[in-house]
This record gives sequence, C-alpha cells and structure tokens, in this order.
Amino acid sequence: MNQSKWKVGVIGAGVMGERMMNAIRTHETFCVAAVSDVSAERAQEAAQKSGDVPWYTDYKELLAKEELDCIYLAVPPKFHHAIALDVLAHKKHLLCEKPLANSLGEAEEMLAAAKDAGVVHAMNFPLYYQGIFPELRRRLEEIGDVRRIDILTHFHTWPRPWQQTPWLSGREQGGFIREVLPHFTHLTYALFGDLQVIRSEVDYPEDPQACETGVSAFLRLADGTPVTINGLAGIAHQEHLDYRIYGTKGTLSVVNWSKLSVGRDNEAPQAAGVPEQDRLSLLLDELALALEGKEARLVTFETGVKVQKVLEALLGHA
Ligand SMILES: NC(=O)c1ccc[n+]([C@@H]2O[C@H](COP(=O)([O-])OP(=O)(O)OC[C@H]3O[C@@H](n4cnc5c(N)ncnc54)[C@H](O)[C@@H]3O)[C@@H](O)[C@H]2O)c1
Repeated sequence: MNQSKWKVGVIGAGVMGERMMNAIRTHETFCVAAVSDVSAERAQEAAQKSGDVPWYTDYKELLAKEELDCIYLAVPPKFHHAIALDVLAHKKHLLCEKPLANSLGEAEEMLAAAKDAGVVHAMNFPLYYQGIFPELRRRLEEIGDVRRIDILTHFHTWPRPWQQTPWLSGREQGGFIREVLPHFTHLTYALFGDLQVIRSEVDYPEDPQACETGVSAFLRLADGTPVTINGLAGIAHQEHLDYRIYGTKGTLSVVNWSKLSVGRDNEAPQAAGVPEQDRLSLLLDELALALEGKEARLVTFETGVKVQKVLEALLGHA
C-alpha cells in the first residue's frame, strides 16, 4: 500500500462499494486501506482485491484498529445514520452514499455531527460530478425562461436486474423513490435551488412490506416553476429515465443518465455529445482537493439534508 495516498476504509462491500473500490484502486491519490462488511466473504474478497488489506465484519473494529483518513460508507440506507455517527465520533472524513439517511431527523443529526467533528463530508451523486452537469448549466442560458421540469423514471423490473438485493424491494428502506429519485431532485436543486413538494401520490401494492410501484408528484421551484415527477415500476417497457427542462426557446433532456439532447423550435432533438467520463474518479478528484484543504466541488451533507427533505415529502413522511 502506498503511504503517500489517502487511506480509505470502506464500510459496505456490495454493488456500490465494489464500484467505488474499483475507482479508488485505480486513483492516483487514494487507496483502499481496510474493508468491512457484515458478510465475511464479501469483506475478505474485497480486501484481497485491494492488495490483501485488513478486513472486518464489524465496522467498529475497523474504526478502532485502523489508521484511516477517510471512510466511504455504502451500506443500505437504514444503517447510514448509526454508522456515520460512529465514524464522525472518530473524526474521520466521510464520503456517504445517497440517500443520506432513512429519515429527515437522522439526516439532520448526521449533518450536525459532521459539523461538530470538523471533517470533510461528501455524498455520491454521480450526475453532479460528470461533464453533463456543467454542459446542462451552460445550455440553460440558451433555452430562454424555464417553463417546466419533468422527471420521468420508468422501470420494467424493480429492483433492477443488476441490483437484486432484498432491501431494495422492501418498504422500509427500498423502492425507486428512495433509490433513484434523489439523483434527479438533487440535480434540480443544484441547477435551480430549493424545491418544494406540493402534492405526491404514491402507489403501493397490497403487501405491506413491499415498496411502491408508482409515484405522481407535483413540486415547485422557489420562483414557482412547476416540476412534475412520473415514476412507475413493473411496466411493459424497458427502463427509461428522462430528466427534461422546457424553456421558452429550447428543451434540454438527459436520458438514461448520460444522453443529453437539445431541442429547438420545431426541430427534432439533437444529441449534445457530452463525452462519457469516469464519474467516480471525478468525485475522488474533488474529494482529494477537499482533503488537502483546497476549494472543492462536493455535494455536502447540507445538501443531502435538503434532498432528504424532498424525499420524505414525496413519501408522505413530512
Ligand atoms: N450513488 C449511486 O449511484 C448509487 C448506486 C447504487 C447504490 N447506491 C447506494 O449505495 C448504498 C449501498 O447500496 P448497494 O446497491 O451497494 O447495496 P448492496 O446490498 O449491494 O450492498 C450493501 C452492503 O452493505 C453490507 N452491510 C450491511 N450492513 C452493514 C454493516 N452494518 N456493516 C458493514 N456492512 C454492512 C451488506 O452486507 C452489503 O454487502 C445505498 O445507500 C444505495 O442507495 C448509490
């Protein structure tokens, strides 16, 4: 292990943990220094891939025994709060997965603890860190006044085939409202500022343990601009995600995370051709700047609380 690199302790070696560890292993400024997962098999496998670093099934042991600079937290949402508070009590910098927590109260406590600890706190909202975000912001200037924003999230199968893990299908902490919509409410917040949920109708199946199958919601930006959300799971259509901004002179659309297109007047939309980038590596670049005490473009827990507020309102919890 390279001693000059920032040492990251990874808590949660599932789908997202593995993706982030791949990015950390190939990043010039970071290294995976220890891994924890309640599954010994996953922890051990990830530790081996990271150069035989120490691994633990109890994250508290990892925090007590390892000298780490930063923790990356990628466990299911209902465990974020308790683990984050322990990490922050050890005064470790913390990169946390979204959504920040499993309730607004938890998210607010995490923000307060991060501020008390005086550490760098950051979240992984990949759309924000890749080239599509500055391109969207630049092109906003070309489309006149924004009339409306439509967010469409349609899934043939939920959970998606690549994320078949039981918590994602449960009502307690799963569902696409928690798992996917925060990316788009965050994008809206980052582009336009505060947004408020005016009404939200969530469709649930009969099974009280099962997550939602649909949501129809109406929100407004602070200047009154309408934002609609149309989410459905289990439909006879392949997965389709479309974030669309309608301006008086043009329409911007981000389809399936990466395809930005621009429509003007009565013309067919044109692809804007933003190059695909390694968004986790771009996030790590920003995190490195923050750890060096330099100015960095990071989504902080402050923003995470704002996103959580919208999320809880969509779910009818606030
Ligand atoms: N930012 C993104 O684009 C993105 C994408 C997918 C998932 N996520 C988020 O990442 C987080 C994890 O999701 P995932 O898809 O990797 O889930 P997952 O179920 O694949 O992995 C979670 C891992 O955490 C482990 N775990 C559970 N409790 C633990 C504990 N107390 N200590 C240590 N390990 C523990 C599990 O054994 C599992 O290996 C969630 O918050 C999810 O919303 C973010």
